[in-house]
This record gives sequence, structure tokens and C-alpha cells, in this order.
Amino acid sequence: KGSIIMKLKNVGIIGVGSYKPEKILTNSDLEKMVETSNEWIVSRTGIEERRIAEDSQATSDLAYEAAKKALENAKVSPEEIDLIIVATMTPDYFTPATAAIVQDKLGATKAAAFDLSSACSVQVYALVVAQNFIATGAYKKVLVIGAETLSKVLDWTDRNTCILFGDGASAMVLGEVEEGYGIKAFHLAADGSGEQALLVPAGGSRKPATSETVENKEHFLKMNGKEVFKFAVTVIPDTVAKTLEKAGMEMSDIDLIVPHQANYRIVSAAAKKMNYPEEKFYMNLNKLGNTSGASIGLALTEAYENGLVKKGDNLVFVGFGAGLSYASLVLKWAY
Ligand code: COA
Repeated sequence: KGSIIMKLKNVGIIGVGSYKPEKILTNSDLEKMVETSNEWIVSRTGIEERRIAEDSQATSDLAYEAAKKALENAKVSPEEIDLIIVATMTPDYFTPATAAIVQDKLGATKAAAFDLSSACSVQVYALVVAQNFIATGAYKKVLVIGAETLSKVLDWTDRNTCILFGDGASAMVLGEVEEGYGIKAFHLAADGSGEQALLVPAGGSRKPATSETVENKEHFLKMNGKEVFKFAVTVIPDTVAKTLEKAGMEMSDIDLIVPHQANYRIVSAAAKKMNYPEEKFYMNLNKLGNTSGASIGLALTEAYENGLVKKGDNLVFVGFGAGLSYASLVLKWAY
């Protein structure tokens, strides 16, 4: 009765790009910094080395490099971008938003800009936010950037955490795509009862910075590894099943899964639970470690550049991490 039926647009990724800082930190470098071994790190996580940003590089600098490449790949100019979302847990500042800094650097003069925070599942969250702006016709082109300088919030004397993470950035341009292509379904979730499992305790409003918090190293990432591990292995199959059910698809329809790159053993255990071949999970954490909000895009860009992602392929992205939070989406690759 008097309602307007709006045809939603199909929204897909139309360009990807990434940036890896030059400096490589290997497991044998870490052996000189903390009580650990290459063998321990590789067998527990699959990580061999990670990239580390320069002291002079902030998250927006990495984000900018990845964004330029994604825009080139999409053949879209900065002036065509309507919105920039930077997905990160290591922003340049509390305020202003890192996305605004990137907007200026890119010369994306017409773009709105904001950051999104949901730890390692944030890039999937950001893609869904972007999808909705474009599906409704509000915006035409949205740039989603995942960028992290985790090296700056790590305690380099804590072997429980410092061996796991790395720096990097990835970017995706989203726009309208042909009928039948693009994002088909998603599932976003959180379980905030796991707040303490993975967090930076101080520096926020719960515990503002004091000389004591600095002395106690409370501005660095703390983690309960076992709890996060169990959580991840449970939620990956759960969220992917929910997304595929919404899309009316089966695991056998999926050509490639691009998971958050946290730990090879997490992905391997999840693959077993899902009864889906491990080789179809694209992994590059051996060279990059866990880059949190940047990791899915870094893996996706590499898979695309290696010719493993082709037009018509059905891809699943799945993220999980602090919050606790988790998320997945399924899309048909459009170019
Ligand atoms: N090098 C050598 N020994 C280490 C170590 C390191 N870098 N880090 C921890 N250890 C020690 C522990 O102190 C422990 O010693 P103890 O038995 O004397 O106390 C021993 O190794 C075993 O630790 P444990 O925690 O049982 O190992 P694990 O098999 O659970 O692996 C993680 C630890 C961190 C690799 C694993 O729990 C994990 O990957 N969790 C998920 C983390 C993650 O991905 N977080 C981000 C999600 S987005």
C-alpha cells in the first residue's frame, strides 16, 4: 500500500591492491629477541617471516600505497570515490579518522571517510557496509582499505604475541557489477563476552594512559592464545555455513576460501571440520604473519595476481578475532 519497491544493485569488487612494507623480520631474527625458535613458530603457526613498517610509516601511509594500486587495478580515479572506509585496529590517531588522512593523500576530494573497528574480522564487516551504500544507490564507488601497523602495539619482549603479527595493507574498490555477480550473502557476528581474550588494555577510556600504564606495558596487545584458537576453530565453520545457507549454496559451489591469516593450524582444523580441502583455503601467512584487518585483502590480492581468482569464481571470505568477532561473505568474482 503506497510502498516503494527498490531494486537493489549487485555489488562486487572491481579492483584490488596491496602494500607490504620492505623490512622483513624472520623467525631467526626473533630467536635473537625472545626465547623462541624457528621450529616452534613454524610448527605452531605456519609463520616464517613478517613485514615491519618503518618508524616513519603510520597506518595511513601503508593504506595509501595499497589504495593507489587498487584504484589502478579498477581503472577508477580518486575523484570517482564516494566513500573511503579504513578497517584497522592500529589507526594513526584516536582522532581524526585514518580514512580522512588517506582521502587527502589520494586527492579523493568527493569522498566521505571513516574508520571501522572490529579487529581481524573488520575487512569483511567493511565490505558489507560498502555493499549496502552501493546496493541502495546512495554511492557508486567505495574504497575499502584494511591497514595495520601492529608492530607498533606489540610487546617485543612477549613471545606469546610478538611472533604472530605483522604489518601491511590491502585495498578493494567496490562498485556495481553485472547481474549474477558480486556479494551474494554475508553473516556478521560478535561475542563480546570474550572481551579480555585479545585486547590492548590501556590507552582507551577504560584505562587512560598514565606513566604507570606505560611502565606496565599495558598499551601493548595481550592475548589468551588458547581461548582465541578454540574460538576460531568453532566459528569459522559456523559463520561460513550460515552465509552459504543464506546464499542457497553448498561448499562444493565454492572455488576458493580466503580466510583471515591468523594461524595455519586454525585453518587446517577448520577445514577438517568443514570437510573441505585445505588446499582451497588460500594462505600466505608464512610470509606475512597475522596482519589483522589487512590480511584477507593481502591474501586475496596475491591469489588474484597469481591467476587463482577468475571471473565467475565463487569466493568465501572469513574473518575472526578480537571482540570476539567473526564474519563471512560469499561473492561471485566479477572481473
Ligand atoms: N616460542 C617458544 N615457546 C613459546 C612461545 C614462543 N614464541 N610462545 C609460547 N611458548 C610456550 C608457552 O609458554 C608454553 O610453555 P609452558 O608449557 O612451559 O607454559 C608452551 O610454549 C606451549 O604453549 P601453548 O600455549 O600450549 O601453545 P599452543 O600450541 O597453544 O600455541 C599459539 C600457542 C599462540 C600459537 C596458539 O595458541 C594460537 O595460535 N592461538 C591463536 C592466536 C591467534 O591466532 N590470535 C589472533 C587471532 S585473530
